[in-house]
Amino acid sequence: MNQRAAVVQGVGGAVPARHVANAELAARLDTSDEWIRGRLGIGARHVAADVSTVDLATEAGGRALEMAGFGALDTVVLATSTPDRLCPASAPEVAARLGHAGIAAFDVNAVCAGFVHALATGNALIRGHMADRVLVIGADVFTTLVDPADRLTASIFGDGGGALVLRAGSPDEPGALRAFDLGSDGTQVGTVEVPGGGARDRLGLPVANRRPYLVMDGPAVFQRAVREMTGSSRRVLARAGWDPAAVDRFTPHQANIRIIRGVAEQLGIPAARVVTNIEHVGNTVAASIPLALADAHDAGRLQAGQRVLVTSIGAGLAWGSAVFTWPALDGKARL
Ligand code: UT7
Repeated sequence: MNQRAAVVQGVGGAVPARHVANAELAARLDTSDEWIRGRLGIGARHVAADVSTVDLATEAGGRALEMAGFGALDTVVLATSTPDRLCPASAPEVAARLGHAGIAAFDVNAVCAGFVHALATGNALIRGHMADRVLVIGADVFTTLVDPADRLTASIFGDGGGALVLRAGSPDEPGALRAFDLGSDGTQVGTVEVPGGGARDRLGLPVANRRPYLVMDGPAVFQRAVREMTGSSRRVLARAGWDPAAVDRFTPHQANIRIIRGVAEQLGIPAARVVTNIEHVGNTVAASIPLALADAHDAGRLQAGQRVLVTSIGAGLAWGSAVFTWPALDGKARL
């Protein structure tokens, strides 16, 4: 039995300064505050104007490292589907800006499920003795992929970054990562996609359309999201030997409030145990789960020893869930 575990030691979050309330969208698109709040549970989001994924990842990661009190770091794993450049990955630049040029640093792309995949990667590196200290970040400026004329996706997405610091420890410590469940269904690649701008488009191969903007089948996403997040949550809970009733804080991907409520209801987790910040930040893609954890920590909603379930799904389709206990952490995760 492997007695080594990856343990959470810090949390951080960051959002761009520009705040876009629903009223601003309603002034230029055929939508309303009432529709967006009622259908999606979103009141406002932050939109990147003069900051990029690397900036947000560096700020969130830096705050998490400061909380952890680490001088040394082995690896940065950055979940993003909006890297600053098409090539290379953004993680090496983040590591360098944080003063860690020379360490392993790479991106993971599983879109809205990216953070859980990155967390699983950090967990595996630590448990496999390939690293002792890993910074796991989720950051996206997904509004750069939103068609400004599309009222649905313009209402849903916001930009941000979130991070957890992991260190080697033991499975019985508060903060220990306990179990994971990851999955995908590439037969549904067209359900949420940016068809233009990729290698197929550059090669002149057929693509659904050449515009470099997100297209989404909303109702199909809704149905699959509830189904897969519920199923994945059940599997990861079974692996940990936890009953859904044992979950103290359920922190799902902040896709939209009706999806979140649907999954919580199917799992039988009471609303008081569900962590959400979607009303203020929208769907921030790979940043969504760590940013929600950062905000919950700052609001005093996460206490040492509480059992946490996180679950996510996004384009791919790809999904992932994890369970862990929350550690004792001091300091603010966000400015
Ligand atoms: O990480 C995953 C991110 N994606 C999501 O979270 C989307 C998941 N899907 C959904 O939340 C729901 O399927 C929708 C909100 C997209 C649709 O809800 P619905 O209950 O299935 O349908 P509805 O009839 O209430 O709304 C659909 C209508 C459409 O109009 P028509 O074609 O029926 O005339 C949309 O064009 O709502 C329209 N619509 C909007 N109306 C006002 C879409 N966006 C907006 C908007 N404001 N921002």
